[in-house]
Amino acid sequence: MKIRENVPIAELTTMRLGGAARYVIEIEEDKDLAEAYRFAKEKDLPTYILGGGSNVIGRDGGFNGVIFVNKLHGIYVIDSDKDSIRLCAKSGELLDDLVEYSVKLWNGEFYGWCGIEALSKIPGTVGAAPVQNVGAYGQEIAQTLHSVCVYDNKDNCFKHMMADELDLGYRHSIFNTGDGVGRYFITSVTLELHKNWLKPPFYTSLQAYFDEHKITEFNPQVIRDGVAAVRAGKLPDPAEFASAGSFFKNVYLDEEETKKAEAKGIPVWDGGKVPSGWLIENAGLKGKEFYGMRVSDKAALVLINESAKNYADLAKARQAVIDAVYEKYGYKLEQEPMELGDK
Ligand code: EPU
Repeated sequence: MKIRENVPIAELTTMRLGGAARYVIEIEEDKDLAEAYRFAKEKDLPTYILGGGSNVIGRDGGFNGVIFVNKLHGIYVIDSDKDSIRLCAKSGELLDDLVEYSVKLWNGEFYGWCGIEALSKIPGTVGAAPVQNVGAYGQEIAQTLHSVCVYDNKDNCFKHMMADELDLGYRHSIFNTGDGVGRYFITSVTLELHKNWLKPPFYTSLQAYFDEHKITEFNPQVIRDGVAAVRAGKLPDPAEFASAGSFFKNVYLDEEETKKAEAKGIPVWDGGKVPSGWLIENAGLKGKEFYGMRVSDKAALVLINESAKNYADLAKARQAVIDAVYEKYGYKLEQEPMELGDK
């Protein structure tokens, strides 16, 4: 177990902001967890788990606590029959590596098991996927999640939890709400994949890509390639541009609000979703820079850290976007990534 001291959160997160964390421990095996939590308890310090750091924003005051960086690796087939397969992945694997593995795996008739191919190229680790129920292009992890193994830092033991115990919703689970925050370290995730290919019509932007490229035959690899191409054309690669993916959540309306929005010409998708990217773009902010943060000119929902000096700059930029959208449309945008540390 490797322990480092005074490590800037900026070095551990893709938005590249934030002061120092007092301790950082790399978790390489499940058995490190009991010791790592004991270390934190002895020092009376809080803990925080980081995977790829692609959905977490560090604050300027740093974190007077212990960050656990997830280095648990391995992907295993644990069960399969004619129609389905259970894949178990350790939580420190990259989600995209698991997708790659699943679309290349022989299923008895053809290559590729289905269920997570549309989650291709999402940055971050497997363990982060259930925390915020990651979703993209018509799939979310909740649809294929079978169960998770966790270390419960309250009861000091490992537990197996079924997907229906996790209260999975839009960017939501027991892991990012209420008493569940900080309580569990997800050590592995088991998915149940199947043979049913996704069929057209696909999610709007994906369908548009297939139409444009005259692609009419689909399998999990084709979907993966399509999603990768759409994302590359739109979402800035966090390795190249400092960002945290979608910076704001989409807005969800009830039936009455939906009628009012549609009367004003605001697009409302199935289930009452107003794309925040549309609101930001139509408030005239696409490509604009505030306090060193740029509203991406490809996807207005993404804020890119070009030269922001600190979290305080980001906070001012965030407020500028929220205010502009509120003034024009009356919706209050909410931040999507989590935050870590003291302001
Ligand atoms: N739009 C604009 N301008 C923009 C961006 C989007 O007008 O600059 C409008 C368009 O009408 C577009 C619609 O918004 O058709 C929806 O955009 P898109 O399909 O790109 O999806 P999104 O709602 O912006 C969500 C997720 C993404 C996920 C995509 C694809 C959230 C907060 N974001 O974005 O997730 O990849 O759908 O399924 O739900 C993330 O969470 O970090 C993330 C990237």
